[in-house]
Amino acid sequence: MTTSASQSSLATLGASGTDSTSALFARLGLDRDARVSLTAREGSSWAMTENPTTGAPLAWVRLDQAADYDRQAAEAVETFNAWRLVPAPARGLVVRAIGDAFRQHKADLGELISLEVGKIRSEGQGEIQEIVDIADFAVGLSRQLPGLTLPSERAGHRLIEQWLPLGVVGVISAFNFPAAVWAWNACLAAVAGDGTIWKPSLLAPLTAIACNRIADEVATSMGHPGVFRLVIGTDTEVGERMIADRRLPLISATGSCRMGRRVGQVVAQRLGRTLLELGGNNACIVHKDADLDLALASVVFGAVGTAGQRCTTTRRLFVHENIAPAFIARLEKAYRSLSTRIGDPRAEGTLIGPLVNAQAVTQFEYAVNAARQQGGRVLVGGGRASPAAAQGHFVEPTLIIAPSDGSGPLPIASEETFAPILYVFTYRSLDDAIARQNSVDQGLSSSIFTESMRVSERFLSPAGNGSDCGIANVNCGTSGAEIGGAFGGEKDTGGGRESGSDSWKAYMRRQTCTINFSGKLELAQGIRFE
Ligand code: UN1
Repeated sequence: MTTSASQSSLATLGASGTDSTSALFARLGLDRDARVSLTAREGSSWAMTENPTTGAPLAWVRLDQAADYDRQAAEAVETFNAWRLVPAPARGLVVRAIGDAFRQHKADLGELISLEVGKIRSEGQGEIQEIVDIADFAVGLSRQLPGLTLPSERAGHRLIEQWLPLGVVGVISAFNFPAAVWAWNACLAAVAGDGTIWKPSLLAPLTAIACNRIADEVATSMGHPGVFRLVIGTDTEVGERMIADRRLPLISATGSCRMGRRVGQVVAQRLGRTLLELGGNNACIVHKDADLDLALASVVFGAVGTAGQRCTTTRRLFVHENIAPAFIARLEKAYRSLSTRIGDPRAEGTLIGPLVNAQAVTQFEYAVNAARQQGGRVLVGGGRASPAAAQGHFVEPTLIIAPSDGSGPLPIASEETFAPILYVFTYRSLDDAIARQNSVDQGLSSSIFTESMRVSERFLSPAGNGSDCGIANVNCGTSGAEIGGAFGGEKDTGGGRESGSDSWKAYMRRQTCTINFSGKLELAQGIRFE
């Protein structure tokens, strides 16, 4: 299919060397970065990063080797030793300046994200807005980081808890949020008094270089070089070394459950800490009393936004049987209307950009075939899409109805496929819908649409027998969380919480202090030792 939106932008589309790309790279300092080459490089120490919209190379990026990692880690420890001496509110001032720099570069960085991972313009910029937001949040936090004062059982004693800088934090990020998730970690770590070493996805190294450059340049101009570090490398050369490194007390990793299991095991072996944000398999329940206009718009954004490549993407839909025929018909119509909105993510009017690479398209096709074999009915989509930028990795937003018109099982729906596939199920009882929603290994995000207080309270039940996910929304889709709340999930999602609320505690160590001002020795628990 061809869209006028994508045609109109082809002149400015993609591959390195086009005027618009060179100018963008120059504005972001990528043309001056020794790690970036705009001409082809051979060999194992270079990785090519491509534009998923065209399949053409964007640039080649020099990979760090083991020795580069070791040098950075050693220097990072030195940097930490100085950075932690800076009072937290002064650290906050650095993060405030970083937030301002990201405000200034929002349009350019959003553009780079569109080029490198294929997000539509509004979502690329939204991702940078998350950086600005978390920076603001961290600045406020820099004047808090509150510890408790607790009553001592002993006269003339004070019992307090204080939060101290933890050390150098290893941050491993995924391609789908190539900037924001790093910032959630880096901004909180910075006000906590920690440094970060960031290992980005090799599918989005340019975004990482541009973002880290901004943070490091601001920090350096304020006298604090090296608080924000970047190591770009393979898992074998850099990743494995990083997770096994005792100099890094915390590894914060975002990615697949498989990756998280490996990170969890290696870090546990050295009794380090992990903060894991892994796969999701998020469901949306549309109850019979829902506002269907609201539900429809939310489900479509949740399932199709970011071409289905968010951890929080809506992958399973449970519709009450009374409204199922009508709601599914509306959904089908909405999906069909999207076929003209697939294309160049930087073009006005595009809603669905490409998948990140050819492998993602293969995985999409695998899941669609598996669903068919398992008795699923492909109602809309199911194949590759060919907008004007035909050589890119485009697929159709896909609706698949579970066997027996939604009431039967569909095993493939238990797996997370990073693509715009929505599996549709029907249900009769709310308890059954909640149980089926909870029946997968992952537990990141969930949502219900209802106008009934009883139904929504059942879903959020304080007894814990409602949604088993880290995120549970009412009349609000599964994706697009604000930074102010703690972000993460249960079960195979890894249990970590990043971003807002009290997630900052993960980046600090807690110290319990008892101060005796009585002048006498008094032992706790009434013990006598004389
Ligand atoms: C992710 O997909 O790893 O809630 C993060 C959301 C975004 C963050 C997603 N704010 O969809």
